[in-house]
Amino acid sequence: MKINGKSYRTIWFENNLVKIIDQTKLPHQFIIKELKSVEDAINAIKLMEVRGAPLIGVTAAYGLVLSIIEKNDLSFLRNSSEKLIASRPTAINLKWAVNRMMTKLSGVNEKEIKNIALAEAKLIAEEDIEFCKNIGLNGLEIIEEIFSKKKDTVNILTHCNAGWLATIDWGTATSPIYHAHKKGIKIHVWVDETRPRNQGSNLTSYELNEEGIANTVITDNAGGILMQRGKVDMCIVGTDRTLSNGDVCNKIGTYLKALAAKDNNIPFYVALPSSTIDWSIKNYKQIPIEERDPEELSHIEGIDDENKIKKVRIYPKGSKAMNLAFDVTPAKYVTALITEKGICEASEEGLSRLFK
Ligand code: MRU
Repeated sequence: MKINGKSYRTIWFENNLVKIIDQTKLPHQFIIKELKSVEDAINAIKLMEVRGAPLIGVTAAYGLVLSIIEKNDLSFLRNSSEKLIASRPTAINLKWAVNRMMTKLSGVNEKEIKNIALAEAKLIAEEDIEFCKNIGLNGLEIIEEIFSKKKDTVNILTHCNAGWLATIDWGTATSPIYHAHKKGIKIHVWVDETRPRNQGSNLTSYELNEEGIANTVITDNAGGILMQRGKVDMCIVGTDRTLSNGDVCNKIGTYLKALAAKDNNIPFYVALPSSTIDWSIKNYKQIPIEERDPEELSHIEGIDDENKIKKVRIYPKGSKAMNLAFDVTPAKYVTALITEKGICEASEEGLSRLFK
């Protein structure tokens, strides 16, 4: 998608380096950062310079390529793969991408390993773009149906950033929106700010602005009253891990939106590529929920009048804070899952019909 009218992807490989858009600097600064080593890739994921489930998966895949360039040695590669998987715990894409790479590289000789690793990492990235594009085409049908009944602007609420910045291109939750916009359907997006890291205001609103899509940032608590007032036609969110029974783990606050949507008879859709499905866990309580530094709550970053980025404390000095980064929305609150293979019920039967 575009920034300042120029098309970008969120990550690419160039001259033996991995290039990323540093998302910790958005929306105030657009900085392309070079990752030169596997350690750089691990830190980029930990510090959330790259974030979003599909993008961290692809970063990990490229991280393994950097590891091979650095030191073509099997035990170093194994160690790199373990550190990459541990860099963030909740999104399953990380483990999925690393395992896929390691399976591909198993038994490959030293001479060929770099080229095979690079080809596989590129393939994972290309597949993600294709999957996200198809999620968009499938989700477009839902938006078209609402538009044909309403014959007026379709108001869509989204949480966090499941946009192209969270993937390689198109996004998951935003892909149907981009496709609808391209078809001339009038769309307006309610963007949950998404405290504490504000991926909604910093990233989703930014990327929608760049694509010329009308959007309004709201506080995380405003969705309920907007739904009660008939201002939301549908919700679409992304996911970091979808269980085979249709339970959906996503950015903290997603669950409360789903409850409000249910109470107001508003359809609540979850968009996902199949790389986000965890077929192994049966109970959502087994999903590792990331708990991040409480400083992300107690401090806030912004830009001052002299264009300087500043971080300030907003909590009393002695206050304790807890920063859970994800929650789980039970399948019963999910109207349907929008995947690259089609739309299905959030259930074992629904997912199995498309993917098994
Ligand atoms: O903590 P983040 O910013 O990595 O969380 C991102 C989300 O929760 C997204 O909704 C999810 O990864 C889906 S991205 C297509």
